[in-house]
Amino acid sequence: MPKATILVVDDEPLIRWSLTERLKSEGYDLLEAGTGGAALEKLTEGPDLVLLDYRLPDTDGVTILRKIKEFDQDILVILLTAYASVDTAVEAMKLGAYHFANKPFNLDEVAATVERALETTRLRREIRQFRSNAARPYSLQRIVGASAAITSLRHMVARVAVSPASTVLLTGESGTGKDLVAKVIHYASDRSGKPFMNITCSALPEQLLESELFGHERGAFTDARTQKKGLLESADGGTVFLDEIGEMAPGLQAKLLRFLEEKSFKRLGGSVDIRVDVRVIAATNRNLDEEVKSHRFRSDLFFRLNVLPIVLPALRSHAEDIPLLVEYFIDAFNSEFRKRVLGATPAAYSLLQSYGWPGNVRELRNVIERAMLLSDGERLDGRDFSAMTKAMSAGNDFELPATGVDLEQLERSLLVQALRRSNGNQTRAGTLLGLNRDQIRYRIEKFGLTPVP
Ligand SMILES: Nc1ncnc2c1ncn2[C@@H]1O[C@H](COP(=O)(O)OP(=O)(O)OP(=O)(O)O)[C@@H](O)[C@H]1O
Ligand SMILES: [Mg+2]
Repeated sequence: MPKATILVVDDEPLIRWSLTERLKSEGYDLLEAGTGGAALEKLTEGPDLVLLDYRLPDTDGVTILRKIKEFDQDILVILLTAYASVDTAVEAMKLGAYHFANKPFNLDEVAATVERALETTRLRREIRQFRSNAARPYSLQRIVGASAAITSLRHMVARVAVSPASTVLLTGESGTGKDLVAKVIHYASDRSGKPFMNITCSALPEQLLESELFGHERGAFTDARTQKKGLLESADGGTVFLDEIGEMAPGLQAKLLRFLEEKSFKRLGGSVDIRVDVRVIAATNRNLDEEVKSHRFRSDLFFRLNVLPIVLPALRSHAEDIPLLVEYFIDAFNSEFRKRVLGATPAAYSLLQSYGWPGNVRELRNVIERAMLLSDGERLDGRDFSAMTKAMSAGNDFELPATGVDLEQLERSLLVQALRRSNGNQTRAGTLLGLNRDQIRYRIEKFGLTPVP
């Protein structure tokens, strides 16, 4: 914590001197003033606390106290006086004086009061900062972008947040902002004062996930030594975010569906119906439609979840937002790394906009983070992204084998591989090959690959 600055205001040089010396020895920075006017001038030097004599040659302490508080509500004031009447003391306290010390004072006591006062403001500031940080990171404005796609996403998120909808489905490739949007929905809703709880369905084996979600009674299974509340119960009134819902085991999918329809459930091994009011936001980067067709995901659960689908666009489909996102991340890393990068050069922006971003906004964020760590220029330029350009051109160094190739066959094989790797998603397959959707469609038809393998 930086050293606090204290302003001592008294017309008696000896009193100023004794207070200043004592407080310097405690490690504070000190300012001095002999009159009320001089004290007000010193406010621009940013004192955290003022020790203020009540009797001043040009005015009285209460007037100065009022002016100090007008200047900055957070500056602490301790009034020192030999002639306090109860009325002045009451008035000073009403005006926000922290303390009233009688003259002659004991230096130890003054030092202790100063320390206590600074400690309370530090706590007060921390709490205020904590509160505003806790609320602000997930405002709608956290979803950065001015493209039509992101603008309509923000509208949708705002509407869904305040709607009575009890389920929401977020789909989109990895790194498109599903986690972010889930939190924005929660904090923009009237559930924001209640818990936001999140669980990744792929992270736990089925039984554990089930007991995490629904809780269990004592003895429900071997390790269940005590009764435990599940996430749905703990989040009552709030939001539960089920990430990677596509990975949920079929048995559990059925139980989740039952809960979504009945709003109540039983703990594992329990017989009592527990009713809760939670909004379930589910997310997946799989194509649930296809998962349903191939019987890996229950169609009834899919239909229930899909009442309010929000599709997060891949970054390459709104590349015009890249400069805004880059500026946003530069700002964020400037404060995190204590740097003063001003932006990126036009060349850097066009480089960043020409890349396909298979890892979407997360990949962009990582690329900017790396560039910010390594760069020491005022603006990020092309050279700061050399790792990325290398990766981009790596594929271009394909070497023709001595035996030659059958170009048509090679093209077909690469196309099949790209489609397989992107689960048949044509846009994503296109990115892998540096082709747009039309170009990829054309080739799919040319090689007679429809329907997609
Ligand atoms: N539109 C956006 N504006 C600002 N930041 C964004 C945006 N979209 C994503 N981000 C940021 O990108 C990173 C990745 O986003 P997030 O974790 O929400 O992706 P995800 O869709 O949940 O990915 P995954 O499927 O891999 O879990 C986060 O740091 C997130 O804050
Ligand atoms: Mg995620």
